Amino acid sequence: MYPKLSPSILSADFARLGEEVKLVESLGIDEIHIDVMDGHFVPNISIGVPVIRSLRKETGVFFDTHLMIERPARYFDDFLRAGSDGITCHVEVKEADECIRKGRKEGIRTGISLNPETPVEKVLPYVGKVDMFLVMSVHPGFEGQKFIPDVLSKVEALRKAIDSEGLDGIIQIDGGMNPETAPIAVEAGVDILVAGSAVFKGDIRKNIESLNHAMKG
Ligand code: DX5
Ligand code: ZN
Repeated sequence: MYPKLSPSILSADFARLGEEVKLVESLGIDEIHIDVMDGHFVPNISIGVPVIRSLRKETGVFFDTHLMIERPARYFDDFLRAGSDGITCHVEVKEADECIRKGRKEGIRTGISLNPETPVEKVLPYVGKVDMFLVMSVHPGFEGQKFIPDVLSKVEALRKAIDSEGLDGIIQIDGGMNPETAPIAVEAGVDILVAGSAVFKGDIRKNIESLNHAMKG
């Protein structure tokens, strides 16, 4: 099952969103990454509830919703009802714990994310308390940025903390993944590689093939 790829639809052609998601699904993808931005937590605005709700009617793939928003608990129910299967909020926001409590209560895959400048110590206390850790490998807000290799030490620290306690914990990496950076991430202990531009820009079929190949090392 792991490591696997989670295409980030932020890089898809929004005029053909349903088709592109169905295409990646036909190519063996079972999870997509949905980037939600509020223009406060990050300097950009992206996808919201109505888009997720419409897309839910088109596909059965797992919806991994990444909330890059200041108030994830305030909007949790809306994103859940829209069709999210997993919800990740950021440790840097005040409502993080409340959002996690809601996720655990609903029994959905609950994640915590940290920005490149946030030390791993901020999320280590969540080992055993969340299902997934999302390590940002670019500054959140935009697709197509360059991978920040320094974050790999955080992946390694999380892997060690999870495995040494014999706990289940998925590690996701998000930003700048491509056939060159993917094997390094897998080597460090990543389970799910989020990739936007490396999947949706150009030939989607070939892109997925080369990323899958690269992940094998
Ligand atoms: C960045 C988003 C990412 C983004 C990744 O804020 O969280 O999910 O879509 O895009 P690439 O893979 O192009 O770096
Ligand atoms: Zn993301």
